[in-house]
Amino acid sequence: MQVRGLHKSFGDNEVLRGIDLEVRSGEVVCVIGPSGSGKSTLLRCVNLLEEPTKGQVFVGGTEVTHPDVDIDAVRRRIGMVFQQFNLFPHLTVTENLTLPQRRVLGRDKEAAAKVAAENLRRVGLSEKADAYPASLSGGQQQRVAIARALAMGPEVMLFDEPTSALDPELVGDVLAVMRMLADEGMTMMVVTHEMTFAREVADRVVFMDAGTVIEDGPPTQVITNPTHERTRHFLSRLLDPAMADVEEETPDQPGAP
Ligand SMILES: Nc1ncnc2c1ncn2[C@@H]1O[C@H](COP(=O)(O)OP(=O)(O)OP(=O)(O)O)[C@@H](O)[C@H]1O
Ligand SMILES: [Mg+2]
Repeated sequence: MQVRGLHKSFGDNEVLRGIDLEVRSGEVVCVIGPSGSGKSTLLRCVNLLEEPTKGQVFVGGTEVTHPDVDIDAVRRRIGMVFQQFNLFPHLTVTENLTLPQRRVLGRDKEAAAKVAAENLRRVGLSEKADAYPASLSGGQQQRVAIARALAMGPEVMLFDEPTSALDPELVGDVLAVMRMLADEGMTMMVVTHEMTFAREVADRVVFMDAGTVIEDGPPTQVITNPTHERTRHFLSRLLDPAMADVEEETPDQPGAP
């Protein structure tokens, strides 16, 4: 997957200011950066939930931003998992997985049910096949949402802060499923604040600020040894928010204690 010179404006607010980024087949790229830096907008432009103002996106060699492209066909190739799980509350877990397969891919009931069962097994939730979403924990609901995306057979998976709405004790199970996907060779772009996950699973980490990519490299570089002050500041704030706030309120003064 490749992003070239991507710009996105909402009115006169330029949210993406020329993003160049590549996620090679089988790679996991984590995107980090402060709130409002354009991380979600970037993911939404990649699967055409937003129309880029300028620039190109390629998925598996196809330019998905080409005016003649079949948007539905593109979206089928890209799975997306959001912070909010967006499951249908009146459908069982299995029905949540079979509905999009039948509507979008035209699979028959039996084939869709088979794929649903396979993917529920992958996320460790076979026993919840007939449950309704409300009876599941947030972590289980998010794993169902991942299984739903996988059931469509995507080439690329995009995750937008998939664990940030979860209670801390439920985060691990969701990250474990994402690790499994990474190990299986899924191409993934993950917006996250989970630095341990990024450090251990990502092939590359991209730090974004104010609509541009500030730093892009292996986690050992970007997280452990960032070269840009803005990356350092963001990371120190993430690791110790109280200290970063104190720092910000006392600007550098030569000679100050
Ligand atoms: N549909 C929209 N219409 C107008 N402005 C938007 C829209 N979507 C996003 N924006 C603006 O774009 C900027 C970037 O938003 P975006 O959601 O991409 O940031 P983010 O990096 O994902 O932040 P967060 O970490 O808080 O999720 C913000 O200033 C936001 O207000
Ligand atoms: Mg966001």
